[in-house]
Amino acid sequence: MSIDQIERRRFDALIIGAGGGGLRAALQLSEADASVAVVSKVFPTRSHTVAAQGGMNAALANILPDNWHWHMFDTVKGSDYLGDQDAIEYMCRSAPKVVYELEHFGVPFSRLDNGKIYQRPFGGQSQNFGGEQAARTCAAADRTGHAILHSLYQQNIRAKTHFFDEYFAVDLLKDEQGNVLGAFVFDIHTGKEIIIEAKTTLLATGGAGQLYKTTTNALINTGDGMGMALRAGVPLQDMEFFQFHPTGIAGRGMLITEGARGEGGYLVNSEGERLMERYAPTAKDLASRDVVSRAIYTEVKEGRGCGPNKDHVLLKLDHLGEAVLQKRLPGIRQTCITFLGIDPAEQPIPVYPTAHYTMGGIPTDRYGQVVIPVKDTPEEPVTGLYAAGECACVSVHGANRLGGNSLLDILVFGRSAANHIIEYLKEHRYHRPMNEDSVAQAYERLHRWDNVGEGESVAQLRKELQAAMEDNCGVFRTQEVLDKGVAEVTAIAERLKHARISDHTDMFNTARVEALELENLIDVALATVNSAAARHESRGAHSRVDYPDRDDKQWMKHSLYSLLDRQLDYKPVRTKPLSVDTFPPRARVY
Ligand code: FUM
Repeated sequence: MSIDQIERRRFDALIIGAGGGGLRAALQLSEADASVAVVSKVFPTRSHTVAAQGGMNAALANILPDNWHWHMFDTVKGSDYLGDQDAIEYMCRSAPKVVYELEHFGVPFSRLDNGKIYQRPFGGQSQNFGGEQAARTCAAADRTGHAILHSLYQQNIRAKTHFFDEYFAVDLLKDEQGNVLGAFVFDIHTGKEIIIEAKTTLLATGGAGQLYKTTTNALINTGDGMGMALRAGVPLQDMEFFQFHPTGIAGRGMLITEGARGEGGYLVNSEGERLMERYAPTAKDLASRDVVSRAIYTEVKEGRGCGPNKDHVLLKLDHLGEAVLQKRLPGIRQTCITFLGIDPAEQPIPVYPTAHYTMGGIPTDRYGQVVIPVKDTPEEPVTGLYAAGECACVSVHGANRLGGNSLLDILVFGRSAANHIIEYLKEHRYHRPMNEDSVAQAYERLHRWDNVGEGESVAQLRKELQAAMEDNCGVFRTQEVLDKGVAEVTAIAERLKHARISDHTDMFNTARVEALELENLIDVALATVNSAAARHESRGAHSRVDYPDRDDKQWMKHSLYSLLDRQLDYKPVRTKPLSVDTFPPRARVY
């Protein structure tokens, strides 16, 4: 089919991605009578939000005293002072309202005997600015993301949001001025292409955990929105900060929620010692994730790992009793029984740090507007383009995200982006003409993968990319290893130019999707490893053996990686909150 025969559809708002961020935004917009298209490469309730286990943070004080300002302090400290304090204040203040909204949408939160929402302790939480442990994470047992995603989907069906299920977004489309006006998408089942023209476009495509071999992330988390943003000329921010969750199932990566430690579980090494007492004497197993991941890695490296290969530590839950496990952690109990043949009510779980969360992403302000620095001026919003959730970098997580702040982030900023779009639509009532060159470029990008010819296989290159990232851009980093990572990923990017897709005709479109995903992953990998090689300090999840200290003088700044010439630039951290005093950088101990 030629380009002029491709069907065109028009909407007020296009949302790419149907996880919690996309669906929360879609609901807000549909309820405001905007026409909304949601494009998702999987059926919406299979989006990765469904896998979020432990819960979402909000200072409801249902179990222990709490307030949003303590939550804000913990988040700023958790971010290792790289998070933007205006956005963090906005998120923490909005959290209770967003949870109550979810309750009204029908999310079946676990309950206390008094009927209030159950909250569990999570890592990095404190009362009174660094005091006693707080209990701030609102949970639906250990299936919180599942409960939220299904409720949001049902609400969207009621609100008549238009879904393009199992469509893949190839690229953003633009007008002559470079403003984003929608996307070029295709139906994965039939291959049918559609040009979606939209007055506003929101990227909500999630993270890029598939950069790594061992990951808690679904196969779909391939950084597609970040890749599209890069190609549209938007730099990616703070990509060197990738979170490794301390407790993935060793060697396999499936998530064992931090909620397991929140409920009283603890980590032991081969000597039977509670290892976290050594690394975080106060918070112990509920220290921040970067701290716990480094501790486990160090124990194994120093020979105190468990199992025949001494390559993991153990998470003990048996002392909690079967009834507590069945009530609070039924999903992880079932996961262990199914995949390991281990019942955590009787035996400890072998765990090891696992790639989990992309802290960096598409730079936005707290209204979800994509913002980019324009020479010699403060950053400017890209007209009509928004991003929310893991693909975005607001930045509320800075150098290290706290557990339970991810679901919160997607819901708060999905909602605030939608509110901004509603206002924008009042001022921008008409569709603008498309630059047909941008359509042609997207069309060519897709059709480059039509030919099943000679060349290396996409699947093999994806495996090599994941190995290169795992070996060279992990929990601990050095210049030598990161430079090796840059070289290896760059070589894989070159090889992709001559790769081929699988020649099974019945799998033709899924094979094309895999190739397009790999292009996105490679661009995101280059952003990650180049940004990491350039940051000569240790901060949060970016732990440099050769630069072991945080260096606020040189490095308290956000990195910005652009596709053009693979250039790096930097911009200041927004240290001024909206209504309270700045939390100045302090030594970060737990
Ligand atoms: O451990 C967990 O349940 C994951 C939560 C999160 O990443 O926020």
